[in-house]
Amino acid sequence: MKIISILCQKGGVGKTTAAVNISSLLSDMGYKTMLIDLDPQGNVATYLNQDKNNNNKTSSVDLLEGVVDINPIIMNDKFALITSDQSISKYNQEKIIGGSKLKKIRNIPYFKNFDFVIIDTPPTMSSLVQEALSTSDYYMIPAKPEFLAVEGVAQAMNFAKKTISQIPTNNPIFLGVILNQVDNRRSSFLDFLNELRYLLSDKLFESHISQSTEIADSPFYAKTVSNFPENSKARNEYLSLVKELVSKIEI
Ligand SMILES: Nc1ncnc2c1ncn2[C@@H]1O[C@H](COP(=O)(O)OP(=O)(O)OP(=O)(O)O)[C@@H](O)[C@H]1O
Ligand SMILES: [Mg+2]
Repeated sequence: MKIISILCQKGGVGKTTAAVNISSLLSDMGYKTMLIDLDPQGNVATYLNQDKNNNNKTSSVDLLEGVVDINPIIMNDKFALITSDQSISKYNQEKIIGGSKLKKIRNIPYFKNFDFVIIDTPPTMSSLVQEALSTSDYYMIPAKPEFLAVEGVAQAMNFAKKTISQIPTNNPIFLGVILNQVDNRRSSFLDFLNELRYLLSDKLFESHISQSTEIADSPFYAKTVSNFPENSKARNEYLSLVKELVSKIEI
């Protein structure tokens, strides 16, 4: 089991979109994948048209509260979900230090059946993101290719580093920055890419995700890139990202 968190305190950079599409493609590739939402916005459930208020299903609050009898939403035999809702916001505080609750899922036998657990996190520097890091083997940061995004990435990396130094029992590895909503027609893009490569070297994924109306529309139809035609650019970009991810982990 490999646990990977997707984080960035900057909102709207594509965390949820990446979490949903990466999980769905990993399951297509035959990896048993669990997607956990830790964001009070509960966007994972909405994206996939699932009920986040179903009391019969395990929620991420249940995980934080030590429930070990796990009953996730089953999307298919390789893809399961644990959703979130506003009730988790009591743990989403910047004043308290998190990291003591979610790490317990590593010892729950049910989770050991999974090849990958992907965690979507809220756009905050809060105890919930610290909980995610405390249980993760890896983390990654999506970013938009904009000038001010460099600062957002640096802030996210610093927050993760500081958190990791405070959680001595776990030391997740930074897999890298994923560039999302790339528009190659913008002449500044290559300059931006060169600067990011210089700053991040191998901590920048080679695979990028372009700005795509198919992706922007997909939650409306509860679709992931898995449902896109095989020749779809968005699907192929995500597929190449997921292959790069798997090769970085050398599973
Ligand atoms: N490659 C893309 N092309 C076009 N639109 C995209 C792309 N990736 C994400 N989006 C859109 O951008 C918006 C923000 O994406 P998303 O919700 O995944 O970001 P987020 O980082 O999870 O946001 P939050 O910080 O609020 O949790 C959504 O409307 C989504 O559909
Ligand atoms: Mg989100």
